[in-house]
Amino acid sequence: MYTQAMDVGPREERKAVRSTAEAELEARFDARIDDGGLIEAKDWMPDHYRKTLVRQISQHAHSEIVGMLPEGNWATRAPTLKRKAILLAKIQDEGGHGLYLYAAAETLGTSRDQLLDALHSGKAKYSSIFNYSTLSWADIGVIGWLVDGAAIMNQVPLTRCSYAPYARAMVRICREESFHQRQGYDSLLVMMQKGTDAQKAMVQDAVNRWWWPSLMMFGPPDSESTHSATSMRWGIKRIGNDDLRQKFIDATAQQAQVLGVSLPDPLLKWNEARGHYDFGPIDWSEFWRVVGGHGPCNAERLAARVKAWDDGAWVRDAALAHARKQSTQKEAA
Ligand SMILES: [Fe+2]
Ligand SMILES: [Fe+2]
Repeated sequence: MYTQAMDVGPREERKAVRSTAEAELEARFDARIDDGGLIEAKDWMPDHYRKTLVRQISQHAHSEIVGMLPEGNWATRAPTLKRKAILLAKIQDEGGHGLYLYAAAETLGTSRDQLLDALHSGKAKYSSIFNYSTLSWADIGVIGWLVDGAAIMNQVPLTRCSYAPYARAMVRICREESFHQRQGYDSLLVMMQKGTDAQKAMVQDAVNRWWWPSLMMFGPPDSESTHSATSMRWGIKRIGNDDLRQKFIDATAQQAQVLGVSLPDPLLKWNEARGHYDFGPIDWSEFWRVVGGHGPCNAERLAARVKAWDDGAWVRDAALAHARKQSTQKEAA
């Protein structure tokens, strides 16, 4: 649509016309971003902005639906009816988040089938945190507290993202994520305050295993993050990885004290001068190993996801057949 000016003159001339026209459009786009304006689906945007958003929003959508898998494994083993109802509602919320986000990605011109193909063929990434095992019921509480907690820290700034359909989807998602964080913390609090010694030990063991991977959820340090600077320039990302990670540590260290668990970092210490907690070095080799497909559950998660897609084929076929029948009946009426 925005390349209409190309339809004149010989090839070189067309190229020049396009460059000028695009340069103008890009200048207008940049000015709008600088003014804090929002970009809607039909607005002109640079190709790189579009591609960055499709990559980020689809990775986010994939993370929501892959994140349902480790929790789904515990739905039949929840200790009480109340905890089972909460867990089922949370898993359903995550499915909904995936749907809002796939819909937001589709507004950028990539179909849901293409996005899911990329996930199922292993080309697309999702959050590495979901490639870790959930070994006990305490892991489900810790996922709510730490994983959903880290997700909220990451995602609240996205409600101010420059791409409006993504920002709007994030408003609702963040509201639901805060319930996820609280239900996780609440279930751990019950185990720590009223549980047996074995249950308390189970919580501590889960915290020990999830703490470092949770810190890795904020991504590599800004100095090594390839996408960060451009995303900040375009208002897709509002706060850097290091600042978000620090914010998360500061909030969580205090929650851990109330909970009565220790965090597995001997260097974690309040620094009065900085007004923040200091913390020990993160093992980024583990992060890159898991991102590269060699985490404890990468193959298992992808296989479970592909199986769910294949097993659900008859549901999609039936829904499409029903929709066709409805529209035929409407036309006939
Ligand atoms: Fe979610
Ligand atoms: Fe969540």
